Amino acid sequence: MLPPQRIAGRVRRAFHWRTASPWTTCVRVACCSHLRFMWFALMVLTVLCVALQMLGVVRQARSAKVLKLVSEQLVRMPAEIHRPTKRNNWENLWSVSAAIAEEPVDQHPFIQRRDESGNPRSEEKREYNRIQDTVLEDIRKKLTSTTKAAPPTVANKQWLGQEFPNQPQRPAFPKRTPEIKKPPQSDNNNDKYTVKSQADNTVTCQPKNHIVFLKTHKTASSTILNILYRYGESHNLTFALPLNMHSQLFYPAFFAAHFVEGVRTRSVKEFHILCNHMRFNSQEVRKVMPKDTFYFSILRNPVAMMESLFVYYKAIPAFHAVKSLEEFLIQGGRSYNASVPNNHYARNILTFDFGLDNTAPESDTELDRRSAEIIAAMERDFSLILISEYFDESLVLLKHALCWSLDDVSSFRLNSRSERSRRPLSTETAERVKEWNSLDWRLYQHFNDTFWKRIDSTLGRATLQQEVELLKAKRRNLEQMCLQEGGAVDPAQVQDSSLKPFQYGAAVIQGYNLRLELNNDTRQLCQRLITPELQYTSALYTKQFPQLAAARAAAAKKIAASRNTTTHRAVKRNIETNVHTAMSNS
Ligand SMILES: *[C@@H]1O[C@H](CO)[C@@H](O)[C@H](O)[C@H]1NC(C)=O
Ligand SMILES: *[C@@H]1O[C@H](CO)[C@@H](O)[C@H](O)[C@H]1NC(C)=O
Ligand SMILES: *[C@@H]1O[C@H](CO)[C@@H](O)[C@H](O)[C@H]1NC(C)=O
Ligand SMILES: *[C@@H]1O[C@H](CO)[C@@H](O)[C@H](O)[C@H]1NC(C)=O
Ligand SMILES: *[C@@H]1O[C@H](CO)[C@@H](O)[C@H](O)[C@H]1NC(C)=O
Repeated sequence: MLPPQRIAGRVRRAFHWRTASPWTTCVRVACCSHLRFMWFALMVLTVLCVALQMLGVVRQARSAKVLKLVSEQLVRMPAEIHRPTKRNNWENLWSVSAAIAEEPVDQHPFIQRRDESGNPRSEEKREYNRIQDTVLEDIRKKLTSTTKAAPPTVANKQWLGQEFPNQPQRPAFPKRTPEIKKPPQSDNNNDKYTVKSQADNTVTCQPKNHIVFLKTHKTASSTILNILYRYGESHNLTFALPLNMHSQLFYPAFFAAHFVEGVRTRSVKEFHILCNHMRFNSQEVRKVMPKDTFYFSILRNPVAMMESLFVYYKAIPAFHAVKSLEEFLIQGGRSYNASVPNNHYARNILTFDFGLDNTAPESDTELDRRSAEIIAAMERDFSLILISEYFDESLVLLKHALCWSLDDVSSFRLNSRSERSRRPLSTETAERVKEWNSLDWRLYQHFNDTFWKRIDSTLGRATLQQEVELLKAKRRNLEQMCLQEGGAVDPAQVQDSSLKPFQYGAAVIQGYNLRLELNNDTRQLCQRLITPELQYTSALYTKQFPQLAAARAAAAKKIAASRNTTTHRAVKRNIETNVHTAMSNS
């Protein structure tokens, strides 16, 4: 890297040269005001600085690691996540997690990757991530005797190969080796517990604590995640969390056991709950989770879901060029190319998330056959499928299936969109969506039916209704106890920025404010109820892997400090340059 004086000198010379040559009159006209000129100069210098620094470090680091690192960068999210400025004096875990939450977290890695190119800040970020990963890798080696802990390159290669959505190396459907055991069906257990409707703590069953929740998109699944997180945390259960503090299990790649922190290093003996975003792969999940694991998931009506997906994932190639969902559908999805990455959000995404082939069937007979296969596969792997449209009913059903209490499933709605960004669809559009997502529509109808059949054959609708009312009352109490405004508010009004939910696309995701005068215990409970997914995931990671998290935080601090000095030097140089040019111009 060049010493700063030399860079500054060069830039100064460059400006002298420019002022002397005739073509720069245009430049000068463009930079007519001093203010704008200073801006311009500042930008140029920053870009230059970062580029030079990158060059130096990258050259040093050229080794066998490069390929791995590059692929890792692809599954990482850049700066979109907010940086908490105000930090509460929360107790231990939470203050640590607040520090951690300042780091970038992966959420929609692929989409944002497109906007990144040519952005020096993201270059910097990539470098920052790279250094962090190197540090972490070292720590990991020290912590464990296991030698080669390679992060999930397999999955990333799959993605790099852009073999979406029909990855040939893993025929999505049908594929299951017969010798693999099924998870126990919860239906078999349904009659084992007796439920005394009003007092829900008099159940006589054994609470389940080996759980897999397949988190689906735009289906209120973040709220269920919060329920699982709180339950697991208060019962000292171990979560199968994504490697390297990622927030997702390298979705949309097929899940693989080694995506889970602690699997490859064998530092975790038993996992209880696996619930972060993944593309389901039954065989691999079984490698991580015990045999008696309870599998469940949630579906939403594909019509409402599509509207939601369109707003949230407007940046994906399929939606990018169209103005509205109507336009997209009327064109028959002309902008949709199934083999372009990220487009899986645009068609039969439920089927996709369950790890099955989501390409549209060509004919009605194919639709019949494939939807039957999909349903069979889901029923084989999952004991319970909830329905987002009947969310409270779903929670009651879940409570019974898991043998938990109503308090355990009481929750606030998280990651929910403000009404303002919702739009009702016409009947015509709704029909088009059903046709477009024909597989998802079939399986939604099927599981909506079985959902109600299950209620009828177990609880009965009257009991269900009673418990739903109880649940609603509990939620109202919690809202009054915890929330300043008694309900959700727009993100701009969230006062504690470390509790601000992740914002993405054109959707406005609402958050909450806690009341100020809470005692410690209540505050803890309330805090957990409103903690957004990304922040909570980091907090749990920190709790489960304190050494790895501390190493990460230390690396982040170090890098932030070095970045600080660089910026300061650049600013100082800029001021010098500007003073100089201002003098020579006058
Ligand atoms: C509440 O928590 C804070 C910080 O952990 C502690 O200093 C304080 O003593 C606690 N107050 C009560 C009443 O427990
Ligand atoms: C969880 O662990 C903490 C600390 O080890 C302990 O005090 C608490 O009783 C445990 N809770 C449960 C439900 O096992
Ligand atoms: C879809 O994308 C693939 C890969 O990017 C490309 O090869 C193919 O030509 C595209 N198909 C259409 C119909 O545009
Ligand atoms: C889901 O099931 C309920 C109860 O049977 C029914 O009223 C509703 O129309 C169903 N929804 C769909 C989209 O089929
Ligand atoms: C960055 O520099 C400023 C001014 O020198 C200093 O106040 C601040 O603490 C520094 N930040 C970090 C993270 O080192």
